[in-house]
Amino acid sequence: MTRKFYITTPIYYVNAHPHIGHAYTTIACDTVARRQRMLGADTFFLTGTDEHGQKIERAAQAAGKTPQQFTDEVAAEFRTLWKRMGISNDDFIRTTEERHKKRVQELFRRIRANGFIYKGRYTGQYCFSDELYVDGARPGDPCPICSRPTETVEEENYFFKLSAFQDKLLELYANADFVRPETRRNEVISFVRSGLRDLSISRSTFSWGIPVPDDPRHVIYVWLDALANYITAIGFGSSHAGAQEAFKKYWPADVHMIGKEIVRFHCVYWPAFLLAANLPLPRAIVAHGWLLFEESKMSKSRGNIVRAETILDVLGADALRYFLLREVVFGQDGSFSFDALVQRYNSDLANGLGNLASRTLTMINRYFNGEVPYPSHAAARTPADGVIREKAEMVIAECSQFFTDHQFSAALESIWIRLIAAVDKYIVDNEPWSLGEKQDENSRSRLATVLYTSAEALRIATALAHPVIPDATARIWAQMGLGDIKSVDLNKLAWGQLRLGTKLNEIQPVFPRADKSAIERMQQMEDERRSSTIEEAKLPAVQPAVAQAPAAPPAAATPASGPATDNAKITIDDFAKIDLRVGVIKVAERVPKADKLLRLEVDIGTEVRQLVAGIAEAYAPETLIGRKVVIVANLAPRKLRGLESNGMIVAASPEGGKPVLAGFLEDVPIGARLK
Ligand code: MSP
Repeated sequence: MTRKFYITTPIYYVNAHPHIGHAYTTIACDTVARRQRMLGADTFFLTGTDEHGQKIERAAQAAGKTPQQFTDEVAAEFRTLWKRMGISNDDFIRTTEERHKKRVQELFRRIRANGFIYKGRYTGQYCFSDELYVDGARPGDPCPICSRPTETVEEENYFFKLSAFQDKLLELYANADFVRPETRRNEVISFVRSGLRDLSISRSTFSWGIPVPDDPRHVIYVWLDALANYITAIGFGSSHAGAQEAFKKYWPADVHMIGKEIVRFHCVYWPAFLLAANLPLPRAIVAHGWLLFEESKMSKSRGNIVRAETILDVLGADALRYFLLREVVFGQDGSFSFDALVQRYNSDLANGLGNLASRTLTMINRYFNGEVPYPSHAAARTPADGVIREKAEMVIAECSQFFTDHQFSAALESIWIRLIAAVDKYIVDNEPWSLGEKQDENSRSRLATVLYTSAEALRIATALAHPVIPDATARIWAQMGLGDIKSVDLNKLAWGQLRLGTKLNEIQPVFPRADKSAIERMQQMEDERRSSTIEEAKLPAVQPAVAQAPAAPPAAATPASGPATDNAKITIDDFAKIDLRVGVIKVAERVPKADKLLRLEVDIGTEVRQLVAGIAEAYAPETLIGRKVVIVANLAPRKLRGLESNGMIVAASPEGGKPVLAGFLEDVPIGARLK
């Protein structure tokens, strides 16, 4: 019987546009799914979008759209991007789909029928950005995940008896494979050991969610709604026979892959919900680290995201896929930079695999009329040929283990360093181009052996790398005359399967070299996007109406564009956290190659701060010297165009117009606080 394999990504919040942080998880899952298919497993790969909850409702409001309109648009962006990136998902679930909503209600009913849901009153702190109830926190305390101030929530809710599952969960973690890696497992164990409180699983102060069955004044807690996607998408709770079959076949999931910040939801809440509904548990939850940009987690709220589209436009999907899996040690945090991306692209893809393919296949064309030559008689062999074969065999075995353990960077290192680099050296040492000049039989035989050995190693490297760089490897495979790479059976991959006389197809370079301008082009594309669109905050309601450095002004993201709901109001304590100060501009100059940015030095009484602001289209630098302005002095620093910006200048943001700096009619001392 065919083995099944079911893998999922988290479903992504649609309050943010997709960026390479989201792409990272999706690429990792896609690689696993593709490899499983090549191993013959009946594979189901699921991704999708998380579209309910107050955060999404607020983001839609801030964008001046209905939640449905807003979520339709952003979900489509994710879908389109995954297509462009060669993602091979079998389904894409949206939590606003009917099939999902009905089946979540069914899950709720089951848990309730089993006695694990009761009604109570919740008073406590909630983080709207992470949709997290923060036990034991006081008003204004920060969220343990994102550090934003939590908000006080007080309402009648349905509660889930999470406390009843403490022992069962601890038993579950005894299986070391359930939560990976070990650091995350330890984190979860200590969280559960410290005691579990019952969890509020409904909200009644907004309506953008799935109604609680038989009590539509409440909507189901967005994490219960979202986690359930893993079963609703494959047919749980459906009355259709086909869907029921699919659920029986694919559940439990073999891997839920997630980022490290959502471990608690997946390793504590999710198994508890499943246990309460008498459903089998997933086999493994695998958490990876964060992609950092300019030293902090890439995220919309930090405004330091890099869009995948920029990289796809300049270098293509395989470059992004390869870079992320090669450069970042899976499980740990890793940095993204355009310099490192282009360097890797050139060294490993253009000069590495790309060059090996083109030189080997070109020589087979030139010297053997485009047909894979006969590896010649013993006399024309040297130990070096055998070494390549041994290396290839070792890499096949080693890669299998590394991929199974989700050690993508180690797997790629093995293919590239142990095999591709070794074959390159083998070609240089054996000089097939010199052998090709000679017509004697020994030289011809030796040439045949060298080219066969190189081509066979190329074939093996190509098959092994296919799950990571599907497009280029499919093209190399076709150029080698081997047909469709998807039909390769990885279980059987072995040395010597390249058939003699295989006729090559037309050869074309798969990875053209990138020059230095590629870095600049990508950087410019991203800078332009950042300075022309204000990054809507994750929580628009607590964003001050300011022109963010360096963002130019569209009003779209400010609270002014939508009426604030009661819950969106902040307390005086929240406001007091923003350190607004009067400063005077001492230095103002344009930032080279950035039309919208100015570099400012602002004296705020206690120090002179460097700021980068997106106001160049509204103000000539020389008109700003000596002008008194208001700045947000306690904003975390960020780097723009390599310049550190320490704060944010406050400006009005008229819709469709240029930013207007805030100022004073009366004179005011430098350093004065606004409160
Ligand atoms: N909607 C929830 C998940 C619900 S799953 C039932 C959510 N969404 S999210 O849009 O915030 O995306 C979370 C996932 O995106 C992370 O867990 C991670 O997989 C990926 N990433 C988002 N930013 C990332 C980085 N900067 N680095 C690495 N992965 C990142 O949480």
